[in-house]
Amino acid sequence: MPEKRKKFKGASTTAVHAGELTPSQGEVVTPIYQTSTFYFPTSDPSTWEGKVPDGSYIYTRWGNPTIRATEDKLSELEGSERGLLFSSGMAAITSAILSFVGKGDHLISIEDIYGGTYSFIRSELPRLGVETTFVDSTDPSKLAEAIKPNTKLIYLESPTNPLLKIVDIRRAAKVAREHGIKSLIDSTFATPINQKPIDMGVDLVAHSCTKYLNGHSDLIAGVVLGSQADIESIYKKRILYGGSMDPLAAFLLFRGLKTLALRMERHNRNGAQIAKFLESHPGVEGVHYPGLDSHPQHALAREQMTGFGGMVSFEVRGGRKAAERALRAFQVIKMATSLGGVDSLASMPLNSSHSSLTPQERQRLGIKDQLVRLSLGIEDAEDLIQDLDHALS
Ligand SMILES: Cc1ncc(COP(=O)(O)O)c(C=O)c1O
Repeated sequence: MPEKRKKFKGASTTAVHAGELTPSQGEVVTPIYQTSTFYFPTSDPSTWEGKVPDGSYIYTRWGNPTIRATEDKLSELEGSERGLLFSSGMAAITSAILSFVGKGDHLISIEDIYGGTYSFIRSELPRLGVETTFVDSTDPSKLAEAIKPNTKLIYLESPTNPLLKIVDIRRAAKVAREHGIKSLIDSTFATPINQKPIDMGVDLVAHSCTKYLNGHSDLIAGVVLGSQADIESIYKKRILYGGSMDPLAAFLLFRGLKTLALRMERHNRNGAQIAKFLESHPGVEGVHYPGLDSHPQHALAREQMTGFGGMVSFEVRGGRKAAERALRAFQVIKMATSLGGVDSLASMPLNSSHSSLTPQERQRLGIKDQLVRLSLGIEDAEDLIQDLDHALS
């Protein structure tokens, strides 16, 4: 049997090989440990003290070999010491936030974040005695200005959902470190293929694995990655809040991850081509894509990203009704929420990802009623362009 290797040079090799369990029956594919419980590590009950030795498992809410293998693959890809999987992106994000803030603490968050996270911070954290200051995502000086003596965490997301604004990750991480504050970034839109926040000084990275990491729109999952010490704190919350992953979902995610680097090459290519096409289309008022020269933060995006992904948002000329007509006319692109899968999807943030925001909140963030969010899959760009052209004409 081959020796288990830890580090690989390229992201594609890492995606395929990292995290594999040592074969027990000569198997080539890391198996599903579809079991909720495990034999106690000692056969004599009188010697069992309730402690789980390193590398052993006791109960799947605490840990499971298939889940651990997937966490190891993810942390190799992200360049973190450790990763921790959850049953959803929201479980990962909320458990991580609640590991670092509690009653009497202060959180700083950029204001352009995924609608679910925004609602959690706005509605749930005040009930728990946590105060939050929302700041402009494009101005890092605002982060430093918002710091209070009780600030415990800076929450970031980049590129942002749905307007693909870019946070200056290095500067934001520096502000956090200089003040001894933890930083956490949702890097779902970028994936570890296009962006490495830990290398830029961020403490913790979260992803909704439901999206690009799994890539096939057939499971819900989330991960937090960071130092061993930080992940141990979050691990305690995972056990208690119960947002653990199912081994079958971990197995599917493990398989999906093997093609991550390959899929991202196509997503990046389709994103670039289709953003350019939309920019020149008379039925389109504005396009948001960090890879476009016209994106106000294109230079920053080039500094901190190696690819710009398959998420493109645009405003349809003619308002909300015209945008709804375009959505109904798609023949290849599917009208559905979510993102990051091999199939292209289109949705309107107004009634999907950002429906929990008030119209005033959406207006303040620049999310117009006629905004369409595209998640470009891995189909041929020509087919997607034809579909868009037909729907917009
Ligand atoms: C950027 C981002 N973060 C987090 C989430 C939440 O992930 P999940 O749906 O897996 O809980 C989403 C979901 O759309 C998202 O787009």
